Amino acid sequence: MDFPYFFTWTKQKDITHFDLLSVDETSFETKEYGRVYDLSSISYQASFGLKNKFIQNAIINQLNQFAIASPKATFDLKNRVTHEFLNFLNKKNGKIFYTTGGAESNENALKMARRITNKKVILSRKLSYHGATLGALSISGDWRRDHNITLDEWTAWIPEANKDPDLIETEKVIKNIGPENIAGFFLETIIGGNGVYPAPQKWWNGIKRLCKKYDLLLILDEVLCGFYRTGEPFGYFHYQLEPDIVTFSKGITGGMIPFGAVYASERISTFFEENILSCGLTNYAHPLGLAAMEAVIKLCKDDEFIRHYKNLEKVFNRRVFSFAKKPRVEEVRCVGMLAAIEIEGLPSLKHFLEKGLYLVIHDKRIILAPNFCYLPKQLESQLDILEEIMDKKNDEG
Ligand SMILES: Cc1ncc(COP(=O)(O)O)c(C=O)c1O
Repeated sequence: MDFPYFFTWTKQKDITHFDLLSVDETSFETKEYGRVYDLSSISYQASFGLKNKFIQNAIINQLNQFAIASPKATFDLKNRVTHEFLNFLNKKNGKIFYTTGGAESNENALKMARRITNKKVILSRKLSYHGATLGALSISGDWRRDHNITLDEWTAWIPEANKDPDLIETEKVIKNIGPENIAGFFLETIIGGNGVYPAPQKWWNGIKRLCKKYDLLLILDEVLCGFYRTGEPFGYFHYQLEPDIVTFSKGITGGMIPFGAVYASERISTFFEENILSCGLTNYAHPLGLAAMEAVIKLCKDDEFIRHYKNLEKVFNRRVFSFAKKPRVEEVRCVGMLAAIEIEGLPSLKHFLEKGLYLVIHDKRIILAPNFCYLPKQLESQLDILEEIMDKKNDEG
C-alpha cells in the first residue's frame, strides 16, 4: 500500500509498518500483529507509559485554560514549572531555554556555546547522536549523518572513553586544533541509542580537568538519559559534574507533547543579560509542553513512583544481565532502565512484532528502554518472550 507521507530513516519501499488501532499504558493493538508490547518506550520518549492519565489530564487542563502564549508572556505555570525544573536539576542559578524537541535543544545549546566563547569547534564522539538538524547532525557520529551535508570543519572527534581512559589522545586532539578554536565538549552523558556506554568517573574527571585547563565548556546531552531513564533523575547525577549547558527532551513530557529544554548555567545566562540571545522559536515555552513537564516532574518526585521504579529497575537489571549467558548474546550493557544487547543473528523487527514485541534494533543490537508503568511481573512476561526469541534458532535468527 502507498502512503502519502514519509517514514523516517529508511528507503520508503522497505518500511516495516503496522496499522495502529489503539494504545494502552504498556502496549498497543495493531491490525497485523494483534497486541504488541513496547519495550523501548517507542523512541525512548514514552518513559511514563504510552497513555499516562496524569500527564494527559495536565495537558487537558491547560488546554482548557490557554494553549497559546507569546514567547514574551510571563504566566504562573511558566514561572512555577521553571523553578520546579531548576530545583529538580539541583541548580540554584542559571536559566532554562525551552524548545520543541531534542535536536532543537542541541541546536540552541550549540548557538549559545559558540556565541559565549566566540569559538566554533565542538569536541564530540563518533558514537553519539544529537539530532537530525544541521548543527546537531554535524556533531553526531553515527550512520544518520550519511547522505547529508555536515559542518565538518567545526567538529572534532575525540576517542570513546574506553579507548582513551586517561584522555591522552583527547588532549592531543585539543592541542592539534588549538584550544583557542574550541568552544567545548558536547557529550551524551550516557551514550544511549548507539549502545548504552556509561563512561567511568575517572574519564569524566579527565574531561573536567581539560575543561579547566583549556577553558572549554562542558555541554551534556540528556535528551535520552534524562528523567530517570538511567536510574537517576538525570544521567549526570551518576557523576560529579558541573556542566555549563544541559539539553533535554523525550522524557521531559513523556513524549506526550513535543517539547525540550536547555539549561544554561549562571555564567552563560549572565552573558546574555548584555548580549543578544539570538535564539527563538514560534512555539517557545509552549503552555501544553510546560503543563506536561510539570506533571512529569511531579511524577518523578512522588515517593510511590520512586519505590515502584527502584523495584522495576531491579527486576529489569537482573533479567537483562542474565541474558549475557545466552549462547548467541555477545554482550549486555545496562544502566537503570536502559540496556543494550549485542546478539548474533538478530531477527528483523517484523519477527519481533509477530511475537508481540516492539523494540529498537539496529545491526546486531537491541536497545531496551521499557516504560516505567510496567508492573514487574508484566515486564518479566515480555522479557520471557524476548528470551524465547533469543534462544530459538528460528528461520531469521
Ligand atoms: C541523545 C539524543 N540527543 C538528541 C536526539 C534528537 O532528539 P529529537 O529526535 O527529538 O530531535 C536524540 C534522539 O534520539 C538522542 O537520542
